[in-house]
Amino acid sequence: MFKIRTHNTIATSGLSQFDQQSYQVEAELPAADAVLLRSHSLHTKQFEPSVKAIARAGAGVNNIPVNRCSEQGIVVFNTPGANANAVKELVICALLLASRGIVQGIDYSQQQAQSNDNQALSVLLEQQKKQFKGCEIKGKTLGVIGLGAIGALVASDAIALGMKVVGYDPAISVEAAWRLPASVEKMENINALLKRCDYVTLHVPFLPQTENLINSDNLSKMKPGACLLNFSRSEIVDSDAVLTALEHQVLQQYLCDFPDVNLINHPKVTMMPHLGASTREAEANCADMAVAQLKDFLENGNIKHS
Ligand code: MLT
Repeated sequence: MFKIRTHNTIATSGLSQFDQQSYQVEAELPAADAVLLRSHSLHTKQFEPSVKAIARAGAGVNNIPVNRCSEQGIVVFNTPGANANAVKELVICALLLASRGIVQGIDYSQQQAQSNDNQALSVLLEQQKKQFKGCEIKGKTLGVIGLGAIGALVASDAIALGMKVVGYDPAISVEAAWRLPASVEKMENINALLKRCDYVTLHVPFLPQTENLINSDNLSKMKPGACLLNFSRSEIVDSDAVLTALEHQVLQQYLCDFPDVNLINHPKVTMMPHLGASTREAEANCADMAVAQLKDFLENGNIKHS
């Protein structure tokens, strides 16, 4: 009987792959063979000697002390690509939010809707809607930093919407290069990309090398009036530098998928509570992939990273 300790919600479709004769799957289970989790942080946790593997239902592994796991001989699995479509769809949505006065228009309509008079409300909204005038993304240039599974999908869909796409990734894999649409122009460095783009979206993992990848130095190279989207990890962007760039009109808008108390009330910031992978489909895909890897490891000793 294998014992699997779970931390926070893992899609039940994934959990149902564990047959009850061979697996005991519970939260806070002691002496576990493996740990299965989504976003719970394991940095302060000690692992008992029974733990042989940790599987994350998600792409990033920054909630897992990977170096300590290696020292203790614990295998770490993640599920790259399994939620890529969900993240991509939210990024495309964010591009449109950045371009049209959608959030502001909805807020304004709700604030004015106290009166019961539909006709008066229509007249007022009609008069005021010019303040929510946006622009079209068709014909604009999108810079994609990080051309892995998510970056490549964002690039393809942005091209389908009529955007010109340029990309930068110093460590692009052969498979990722094949997945990338041919029309994506590869840039030599981040500064060259920032200079060209009306929108820039980040799709790199959080690593020591990517901490503050976007900072005051390179933000000053951005095309004035550009929008920055961060749907990767908050640490990749220096938020003080973003604040300065917004105040100095270098950056027109910042859209991100993380809480940041410095920026949450800024009128040019649209912040989401890490919703990128929060779809039924992505949660099921990630849980299925994480469980399949874990079972193959525990039952057959295979270490097949997806
Ligand atoms: C990821 O790393 O893929 C996401 O953080 C997944 C999630 O939101 O659970």
